[in-house]
Formats: sequence, C-alpha cells, structure tokens
Amino acid sequence: MWIFGHSKHISPALDKSGLIPVHIAIIMDGNGRWASKRGLPRNAGHREGANTLKRIVRICDEIGVKFLTVYAFSTENWNRPKDEVDALMSLLLEFLKNADNELAGKNIRIRVIGESEGLSNEIKKEIARITSNTMNNTGLTLLIALNYGSRTEITNAAARIAREVKRGTLNPEDINEKLFSRYLYTSDIPDPDLVIRPSGEHRISNFLLWQSSYSEFWYSDILWPDFSKKYLIEAITEFQRRNRRFGGL
Ligand code: IPE
Ligand code: IPE
Ligand code: MG
Repeated sequence: MWIFGHSKHISPALDKSGLIPVHIAIIMDGNGRWASKRGLPRNAGHREGANTLKRIVRICDEIGVKFLTVYAFSTENWNRPKDEVDALMSLLLEFLKNADNELAGKNIRIRVIGESEGLSNEIKKEIARITSNTMNNTGLTLLIALNYGSRTEITNAAARIAREVKRGTLNPEDINEKLFSRYLYTSDIPDPDLVIRPSGEHRISNFLLWQSSYSEFWYSDILWPDFSKKYLIEAITEFQRRNRRFGGL
C-alpha cells in the first residue's frame, strides 16, 4: 500500500536539508480567469486570491522563508476599467486593515513597495500604520508590491541620484551597482532567489527587473486562487535542483 504514498496526487514532502530560498517573489496572476471559469465576476477571483495570499504567507513563514514579495497591483493595472481598479483598491485596503490580526500575530513584518503617489489617503494611512505596527516583528518579511513598476522604480532611483550629484552631495565616480540598488524600494532586502508566476503567462510584467537578474523562475498553469502548499513545495523542490552559476562555472 505504501506505494500510493508516491502517487502524484499527494504533495511531495519538502527536503528541509536542501536550500530554502531566502527570498521568494510571486506574481499573483490569474484571478480573473479563475472567476470567469466559474461564471463569477472577476472581483470574486481577486477576493479568493487575497485568501490564497494569507495562506501562502503563513506557509512560507513556517518553511523558514525570510522574505516574500508579492505583486498585488502594477503601475499598468491602472489601465483596467475603473470598477475593477476600485474593487482591487478596496480589497487591498481591507487586506491591510486585517493584516495585523491575521498575520502579525504570526510575527510577520509587513512593508509595501511601490509609488505612494496615486494611492488614496486611506490606503496611505493604512500602509503607514501596518508598517510601523509590524516593524519590530522578527518573522517573515512580507513585501506587498502595490502601485509597483520596475521601470518607475529604476527611473526614480536615477532621478534621485542625479539630484544628489547636482546638489554636490554625490560624486558620479561613486555610482556603482551597490550604490544604485540602495536607491530602489528594496534597498535593504536581498534579491529574490526564486520568482514564481502562476496563470500560464511566461513574462515578468515589469516586476523586480533589477532585483531578479539572477533569480530562478518557476512557471505554472495553475491560477493564483488555486495556488497551494503543494505548488509552493513543487517550486522550491525544483529550485533546489537548479544549478545557479551567476555567470561563473
Ligand atoms: C492578478 O489577476 C491580479 C492583478 C493583476 C491585480 P488578474 O486580474 O490579472 O487575472 P487574469 O490574468 O485576468 O486571469
Ligand atoms: C501582473 O499581472 C501584475 C500583478 C499580478 C499585480 P497582469 O495580469 O497585470 O500582467 P499581464 O498584463 O498579463 O502582463
Ligand atoms: Mg493577469
């Protein structure tokens, strides 16, 4: 009978002696299609996606992942119909409001990366509150990429550097990769080891362009609301089999 334990229907056990990625980044995609498949409005998919996020945060923390960055709303997502944008913003607000109770009890530290300009005052206030309330937690750091776009991030970094040079507080000779990365939203965060994108799309969609230079990528056709521990373990197991060379031999 034991042989059934190896059935593909049973999620594989995680090899904890293997390397656990320090930083996992996830493009939480496929909410809309998940809902459409069920004849539900797209917003129902976003709500289910938020529930999946809560589960995955806890699992990552249990596994020992230190940083989890999730793509929640891109700078391009403003191009969606207003009612969908509004629904996404109110879901995000709700997520931030409940995050203390639902996640911080688990010692989770929460930060938001992206442009605050364009967000409502209510959301900005919640971001400030949750950031400071969870600042001293020592478990997993959850980075929520909200109104995030890599090109904006990199362009703004370049502009800030240019202003400092103009002001005379920075020498152009001192600009190198290390200095540049300190001007990004992720200045004190290690680069992601593993980037996960469900939903069947094989693209980066303006997410962590600088930071994912040497990340391992894992794609799956699963839609984000259906993502579960099983897939997370599959991704980490695959990551453990990869040979990261960083351009060397
Ligand atoms: C991801 O799901 C959530 C956001 C982009 C905010 P989508 O809404 O992109 O779902 P699909 O890709 O249309 O299925
Ligand atoms: C990426 O998904 C953004 C988020 C998951 C927040 P999109 O659905 O916006 O990406 P594209 O349009 O398929 O590239
Ligand atoms: Mg999508």
